[in-house]
Amino acid sequence: MKLQHDITIALTKGRILKETLPMLAAVGIEPREDLDASRKLIVATTVPQISLVILRGSDVPTYVRHGAADVGIAGKDMLLESGGEGIYEPLDLGIARCRLMTAGPESAASMGDDRRRVRVATKFLNVARAHYARKGMHADLIKLYGSMELAPLMGLADEIVDIVDTGKTLAENGMAPRELIADISSRLIVNKASMRTRHASVQALIEALAGVVKAEIA
Ligand code: PRP
Repeated sequence: MKLQHDITIALTKGRILKETLPMLAAVGIEPREDLDASRKLIVATTVPQISLVILRGSDVPTYVRHGAADVGIAGKDMLLESGGEGIYEPLDLGIARCRLMTAGPESAASMGDDRRRVRVATKFLNVARAHYARKGMHADLIKLYGSMELAPLMGLADEIVDIVDTGKTLAENGMAPRELIADISSRLIVNKASMRTRHASVQALIEALAGVVKAEIA
């Protein structure tokens, strides 16, 4: 891949990165460092115009929104939480699939929606606020940064809003999924200004990755 413009791609370590690297490699973009071993946060690639920045998942939309990175790969959960302002979302990469759900103690799984008020622990405050508002419920939201499954067990909250993949974490902590809020997968996102000013290069990247997604579905 030969590009006209310099492009910075924001990525996040963990499962998304693991599933993203083979897709980037398929279009000829390979990091010049071993990302598992390296502590570098800006990494050059085999395409001289493309560099990678490695961020926390929730920071990827922020970097792309402000144009500090032209392109990013972020979970739909992070995008729902951060809002779409300043960002295009041209491609569903179909990777890191999971579900954003409400969940609560198994013993209380039959709790109906006649509840008007519920205490909810989550790191997805905006998603949770919108979800309970749609249901006409008042949610007292408690912001946590991880181990959400613990909150109902310890009496901190009635329910959580969190990512469910295999459901193992919930099950092992005596919790059960309740309502589906959204199906999640990773998306390619693009800064709106970069889409104009670096159009040819951004478009070439989108099309190349779209080809990989298509080939994987086929
Ligand atoms: C996520 C999520 C759950 C778990 C769900 O946490 O918060 O705890 O994965 O996966 P499962 O359904 O397969 O058990 P993650 O490990 O991504 O860490 P986090 O707490 O930083 O979100």
